[in-house]
Amino acid sequence: MIPRLGVNIDHVATIRNARGGDYPDPVKAALIAAKAGADGITAHLREDRRHITDRDIVRLGKDIHLPLNLEMAATDEMLDIALNARPHAACIVPEKREERTTEGGLDAAGQHNHLARFVRQLRENGTRVSLFIEPSQAQLEAALSLGAPVVELHTGAYADACNAGDSQKAASILDDLIKAAAFGAKAGLEIHAGHGLTYDSVMPIAAIAEVKELNIGHFLISEAIFCGLHEAICHMRDLIARSRHEASS
Ligand code: PXP
Repeated sequence: MIPRLGVNIDHVATIRNARGGDYPDPVKAALIAAKAGADGITAHLREDRRHITDRDIVRLGKDIHLPLNLEMAATDEMLDIALNARPHAACIVPEKREERTTEGGLDAAGQHNHLARFVRQLRENGTRVSLFIEPSQAQLEAALSLGAPVVELHTGAYADACNAGDSQKAASILDDLIKAAAFGAKAGLEIHAGHGLTYDSVMPIAAIAEVKELNIGHFLISEAIFCGLHEAICHMRDLIARSRHEASS
């Protein structure tokens, strides 16, 4: 099975918000993503609303027929929004105001008691919960004990090592991701992966048999500047499909 591609549209909103006003519209980007074969739309509603806004979440829920994956911090404000919006999925991420993007995974093990209520209430409300974690056994075990059905493995450090040309470091982190995916899937978790992936780094991640979904944003929106969003997504989908075919043949 080819991993699903969730297209993260946050950075369409980043460009819009640079000037205020209504364009470029992340909902229009989601419609293009759907036509290009995306399997889902991902959007991160941050506490500071630096890209996606509350109104975007409402419009995505209304106008887009693909499953919506809402990335959210474990705060009461975000929980209320997610309980009202009832997205298909919610990915709980760590969030620091001063970070440029999500740095590091959620400490599901250390924050077990804090997270338990969020996982339970979202699940009871019909949303599929995933936890964005580093590929470590302790974090996977914490996700299991919290009752999260899904984990998204953080590929940021792997992607950074690829970008820096540090193939040894990339291979070592890839090994951790492969082991974590196998351990997690065997224990019953659905495995997703994402962060920082590009055309150059996606294939080894897509080749991991247990990975059912990839969430990719910044690079696709960046490429869209040069070739258009439709073409960028189609090319990413081709690489993902090719990687899975090569891995299984
Ligand atoms: N997955 C999660 C949990 C994220 O927080 C992000 C970034 O918002 C992504 C995937 C996508 O990362 P990128 O934009 O670097 O492709």
